This record gives sequence, structure tokens and C-alpha cells, in this order.
Amino acid sequence: LVMGTLQKVVPLAPDRWMPGGTPDPLIARKHGLIGKPVSRLDGNLKVTGGAAFAAEHRFDGMVYAALAYSTIARGRIAAIDTQAAEAAPGVLLVMTHRNAPHMAKAPMFGSSPSAVGPHDLAIFQDDRIHWNGQPVACVLAETQQQADHAVALLDVTYAAAPSTTDLATAKANGTEQALFMGQPLRNAIGDAEGALAKAAHRVDQRYRTPRHNHNPIEPHAATLKWDGDRLIIRDASQMVTQQAQTMADVFGLKPDQVRLTSPYVGGGFGCKGLWDHQVIAAAAARLSGRPVRIALSREGMYRTVGGRTLTEQRVAIGASADGRFEALVHTGLSVMTPHNAMPEPFILGTRSAYAVPNLLLQVDVARMNMIANTFMRAPGEAVGTFALESAIDELAVDLGIDPVELRIRNEPDKDPTSGLPFSSRHIVQAWRDGAQRFGWDARPAAPGARSEGEWQIGMGCATGTYPYYRMPGAKARITLRRAGDEIYAKVEVAAAEMGMGTATTTAIVAAERLGLPLDHVEVGYGDSDIPGAIMAGGSQQTAAIGAAVMSAHAELVTTLLKLAGNDSPLAGLSADEVGSDGGALAKLDDPTRRERYASILARAQRDSVSVTKAGSMPFEFMHWSMHSHSALFCEVGVNRVTGEIRIRRFLGSFDCGRILNPRTAASQFRGGIVMGLGMALMEETHFDERNGRIMNPSLAEYHVPVHLDVPEIDVIWTDIPDPHAPMGAHGIGEIGITGVAAAVANAVYNATGTRVRDLPITLDRLL
Ligand code: MOS
Repeated sequence: LVMGTLQKVVPLAPDRWMPGGTPDPLIARKHGLIGKPVSRLDGNLKVTGGAAFAAEHRFDGMVYAALAYSTIARGRIAAIDTQAAEAAPGVLLVMTHRNAPHMAKAPMFGSSPSAVGPHDLAIFQDDRIHWNGQPVACVLAETQQQADHAVALLDVTYAAAPSTTDLATAKANGTEQALFMGQPLRNAIGDAEGALAKAAHRVDQRYRTPRHNHNPIEPHAATLKWDGDRLIIRDASQMVTQQAQTMADVFGLKPDQVRLTSPYVGGGFGCKGLWDHQVIAAAAARLSGRPVRIALSREGMYRTVGGRTLTEQRVAIGASADGRFEALVHTGLSVMTPHNAMPEPFILGTRSAYAVPNLLLQVDVARMNMIANTFMRAPGEAVGTFALESAIDELAVDLGIDPVELRIRNEPDKDPTSGLPFSSRHIVQAWRDGAQRFGWDARPAAPGARSEGEWQIGMGCATGTYPYYRMPGAKARITLRRAGDEIYAKVEVAAAEMGMGTATTTAIVAAERLGLPLDHVEVGYGDSDIPGAIMAGGSQQTAAIGAAVMSAHAELVTTLLKLAGNDSPLAGLSADEVGSDGGALAKLDDPTRRERYASILARAQRDSVSVTKAGSMPFEFMHWSMHSHSALFCEVGVNRVTGEIRIRRFLGSFDCGRILNPRTAASQFRGGIVMGLGMALMEETHFDERNGRIMNPSLAEYHVPVHLDVPEIDVIWTDIPDPHAPMGAHGIGEIGITGVAAAVANAVYNATGTRVRDLPITLDRLL
């Protein structure tokens, strides 16, 4: 997600490379906080109803919004009759392109580090229709029911224009090579096709993945108001600062004229950002002079919030008789709208996966008139690993080599595309640990060899992978406050919490670094007024926060040493000779030279001290190829009579650097795996190819795993710190979903002998 943005900020010039550092020795296990399981600090508020989510926040005099959605894919609005809606009970305003205030286009994602617009379209500025489901009118009323009723009274007439809403036509119209965040999705090393043709063993197959829609528990919502020329928004956001900036751009405001807060988010996965509804609600609030709450229905999300686009992938591997890869081809197609820049970059994980001298990777795009695509948990890797890791399983069958062994045999000693050394890669250990714990040895190599009554039982495996990223722009503000002899810290970061435990992990990291008990550290986040910019995306937020906390803490130590002065036992020491320990500063190699924070502040006649500092620039991954890895094991049962597939056991063995909080980490891994099971077995957005309308816009028809679909999921990890990441830790939000669909498909093959290359693996494909 962030690589392209980062490269704009820090050019990849060799003279700018710096050797990787070592993980912060002060964020180790010194105080016993890192690596200790801690429950989410906001957990009690959430389970007792004390946490007000975006659709529960209240402003005095607030009114409710409802949206009408286009029913054609392309064309224009010929007429809108709003009279009946305007006359309906409780209605204050019907806003369309005819009376909406002027708004600029939102700068599109990737166009600058702070831009998070979903597409390059103006909203409610003209009569044009660009996708089936585009908002065409907004009603404000005194109650939600009145607004919903009035929307039903709108009479919209369309003039349809020719549109491309079926894949065959889109392909026939021509394809082009894709860019992702401004970078070409292509790598060519050696002669892959030539080496493939000459290889002793080869697989060459096509794999398909469908569109996926986002389904966090909390549908999108915002409650907002204008306070003079200041826009106040309570949103559900995983990109708080950037979203506030983009809203300011849309309404021609200075950044400090937008205050966006988002303390609680009911799941994000890439979709909790800026879409049309916040812009429309803010415009309607300005026009009506009333605060507005807009809460999308589940169907509203399907109409206006983008998802993961479909892919058609070719994976071809040529290998010698002993299983060494000689050629790897991973190419194919993804689909985009003409109005955004988000292909599904399914080759990203393949770039660093295996040792192979001849490599060809390329993503092409076709265009369809539909809603803008967006990021969805491990964009690229989630579906790319399905194709790659299925093909490796097919090759293992052909070679008669155990699939775990085949993968280990092709471990690269440096990054095969960038040539950079790996910062940390312990995937072989993850495979060995996982195989032993799962009982992989018991797997019969031949398919269909094991059954229990009607059930055919099989085991499969796959590798998961996701990069380590760290975006620039993170800052931390640390404030120490003295209450008698006690010291309390507030640590503020412009970060987003989607429910994964960021605030908790930040408290752990800050408490460890400050040498304070966890309950003396408060974390501020989810507020655009906090300095800096961090985003819960690309699994990089934890590393970005950690680096900023380290910098701010170093600045705090410098400030405290100045305040301590010549009468302190610390007199004459420099900041790098001193660490925090037990509510005090102490000389690192002689902890008897120490003074408590409270004593330093008291002598300086201060009640508090506050510092703000940016994190170091993320040079580490310019010098190292940095990735997380997993070894995944799955056991399925397939019913011989009905074709029903049941996941019986699943194990994820992860290699993601140092794990900061094992409790929230295990939940992240499990949650990713559950989402991967959905991708493997049920998730699929159905489009009506005649008109581009999504046909299953509800959880009744778009299936995600429920409790009965999910067995006990075992997760383990190597816990080996990455020596080149600031805290030795990698973000882990996305790795969990990667590889899962292949592990399931490979287990289904082992159970039945049927190879399914087209997701989802529904029962009809096995009958
Ligand atoms: Mo993620 S798809 O970077 O929320």
C-alpha cells in the first residue's frame, strides 16, 4: 500500500542508503511488558456499550441522511422529481447535483502522501453517472425513518450511455500494463518462457478469484457538523489525519479547519476511509445549517464502498527433477474502473518468494464501468498467493516431492528481484515448527487415501507472505505529568485504531520505553489535531508508532537532563548514556546514578514536561528486503455425497519479527485466517453483467464464515526480532489472510483428487 508513496518521499538512491540499525535495546523485555499478553485497554468500554461509535455520536439538533443510488452503470440523470420527497413528513432538504454546494474533487489515493480520495470524480457537481449504485440524491430529515421513506419517493429518470459491464467485452476492448501506487507491476529476469519450455517438469495453470466486498461488522458512518467555517467530524476511519486533509481539500479549507476524530472503529480491512458519503453529508450539513448523521446500510456499503477486484492469473513453474525452480511466470489480468488507480497487484508476494533464475511477473488491467476498487486486506498477496501456492502444490504432486520440502528446497538466499539481502527470514523454522505441531508426517501423499464414513479427509499447506512497511510522517507527543511523587505519561500519536489493539500495543511500547507501569500511561490517538500522520494500512502502523515513540523518548530524555541540571546524580551525562527505568532516568551502564522523573520535575518547579518528535526516516527497507512469512497447514473433510467442505483443523506458524502483545497478535492472525477461509470457500460479489449492478448486497447473500465454519485455529510464531526493524517487530494485520485459500485448496485436492483453481471452492465444484 505504501511503497509508492514512500518512494516519492525518499528516492531510492544508493547514496541515501544507510545500514540498518539494531532494534531499540530499550524496547526489549527489560520491564517485562513486551511479549506479555495484555487485553485491549478499550475492551471493557466496547463490551459494555460505553464506546460511542461514529453512528452513535450525537450533536444537538442533529438530522439524519439517506442516499438514493443510481440504477444504471453509465450515462446521466435526465430528471429528478423531488417534490413528493420534499413534502414528506420531517424532510428538511433534498440535495442533488442541482443544489449541492461547490466542492473540489478529492485528490486520489497515491497522488500525495495525504490524499485518500477513492476516485477522480467530482461528487454531486454534474448529472453524470459512472457506476451502478452511485449516489444521486441525499435526503435530510428529522428521523432516519423519515429520511429513508422520502428517498423512496424520489423519481429519477436516467439517460443511459453505452457501458462495459461484462468481463468478455472489457477484455475485447483491450488491456494495458498496470501501475500500482505509480510503480509498474512488472518484473522480468532472464528468459522465463524459454527456461519453462526446456524444464524437465512444469506446471502451467490458470487461477481465478472473484470480486470481494468489504464487510466489517460496523457499516460506514459519520456524524458531523459545521462550527462556523470549521468542519467537525466523528468518523470511522483507519486514516484519520489523511482523511481530514482530503476533506479540507474538497471544501477549500485549511487543514486546521477540519477536526476529525475516530476513537472506535468496528473493523476496517482497507475500507474505512473516505468515500462519497462523508463528502455528501458535509455538503448537506452546510446547506441545511444542521449537524448530520449519515449511517450507510449494509446495501449502501455495497453500492458506494469499493472492494477487491477480480483476477485471472497464470502461474507456470519449470523445475529440475530434484525440484529446483528454473522458471517462474506469474502474470494475468485485473479489472479497474476508468476512475481509479487500484488494480489487484497479485504479483507483489511472488517477487520475493522463491529462488529462481528466470522470472516473469506482470499484471494487466481491463476497464469496466463499476465502483472504484480499493484496498482489501493484503491487496495482491491475498489472492496472488492462492495462485502461486496452488501451483507449487501441483508441481509437488508432479515431482513426487513433499510440498513442505519443495518449498524449503527453493528458499532464496537474497531477494530474487531486488537483489537485496533479507533483513530477517526464518520461514524454514516456521515450516519445521508448524509441521511438527500439526502432525504433517501423518498426511498420505496420495489424494483420496483417507476417509471417515462419507467424509474424505485431506491435508494441505501453503506459504503466506506480506511485506514490512513503515511510512514516514509519524510523530509522537509524550507528556509527563507529576502528581506528588507519581508520574503519569500521556502518549499521543495520530494513529487509527480499527479494533486490532493499536492503542494497547502503543501503551505497552511507551510504558516499556518510559520505564513506567502500564496503568500510568494513557494513549491518545484517532484525532486529526494530534501532530504527525500515521495510517492503519499496509500493516505498518505499529512500526511507525514505535519509531516515533523512540524518537520522542530520546528527546524527552534530553529535555529532562537539561531540567535535572548540575545538582542531579545524572549531571554531565548525555542522552545516549541514559535510559528510563522504574519511573526514573538512570545511567545505562551504572544504574546507581539515577534520579526519579518526579524529583527532576519538582526541583525544576515543573508540573509537567512535553515533547513532540518525528520518527526516524524509514531507510531500513531501502537496504533490506523485509517481509513477514507464515507456514499454513489445513485439514479438511469433504463430504462424498453432498460435496460439503468442512475445515477440521488449521494451524498458522508465523515469522513476523518480535511479537509485542501475544494476545492481540494471536487475534490478528486468527482473524486473518478466518477471512482467508471466507475467501477460500464462500466470498464472492455477484455482478449482473448486463448492467453492472451488485446482486448480493447483503450478508444473507454474500456469505462470510460464521462460528460453525471455523474450527479451533492454532497459531504459533518464531518470535525472532528483525534486527533491522526499529523495535524488531513487524506489523501483522494482513499476513494472516495470505496463503490461506491455497492451503484449503491444496487440502481439498489431497482429500478428493479434485483440483479447484477458481475461487470460491463451493460444493458444486466437487460433485
Ligand atoms: Mo489494509 S488493505 O492496508 O487496511
